[in-house]
Amino acid sequence: MPIADLGGTEIHYQDIGAGRQSVVLLHAFPLHSGMWARQIEAMKKRYRLIAPDYPGLGKSAPGPAAATMEILAEIVTGLLERLSVTRAVFVGLSMGGYLCLELQRRAPSLFRGLALCDTRAGADTPEAAQNRERFAENAIAKGLPWVADEMTPKLLRPQPDPAAVKEVRRLIAEGTPAGVAAAQRGMARRPDSVPTLARITCPTLVVVGEQDTLTPPPESEKMAAAVKGAKLVKIPAAGHLPNIESPKAFEEALTSWLVGLPA
Ligand code: MLT
Repeated sequence: MPIADLGGTEIHYQDIGAGRQSVVLLHAFPLHSGMWARQIEAMKKRYRLIAPDYPGLGKSAPGPAAATMEILAEIVTGLLERLSVTRAVFVGLSMGGYLCLELQRRAPSLFRGLALCDTRAGADTPEAAQNRERFAENAIAKGLPWVADEMTPKLLRPQPDPAAVKEVRRLIAEGTPAGVAAAQRGMARRPDSVPTLARITCPTLVVVGEQDTLTPPPESEKMAAAVKGAKLVKIPAAGHLPNIESPKAFEEALTSWLVGLPA
């Protein structure tokens, strides 16, 4: 099990695949890198896929009380340095998208391309940030079954496939309440990334599940319109996690864009 000590936290990551081109997969809240299992399987013959777990989620040790995008960006850049990766395509879903935008600000030269999936560029309203603090306190007090009850219906399309429900609940159960709370507190502190969008110069893909209610399609339309030359793909029959609910369509959107990227 690959583990790297990054900024004092033991970070678990996957590093799989034979390709010379690297793709960094950054997961959603409150899941872990295991959410990319199908994409890793589908793409590993052609690409090197690198997917970390954020502190306290998946197999990573708990870290700071607030996993801010700044701290997570340090972890990702530290990991890539350790793996001698100097350029990659970054794929971020939801919280992973917030992290991609932080990485864009601090290390744009790392980016061969950027895929923003089911995410948004704006910061939280004060009310949303307060809700996250309440969620963090509840996660600690009530535990992961409560987190799964709260989050699973929001992450999946209405009338979800029972297998998807089971998978998402398992991914949540493999974290820790401290990791969930830290992620919420970190997301609450994230800056407004709308001004970042206009400064992105790498090829950009925006993907969204047609039935995403957490970061609905109009958010993606706005992001795609704000990034020069961005391509927008909507995935049918999927909510906030199209990589789990419509994996074939998600992989087709990603790989058909990836093959057209300049070396
Ligand atoms: C996620 O899927 O990462 C979260 O729903 C993002 C958020 O809570 O803003």
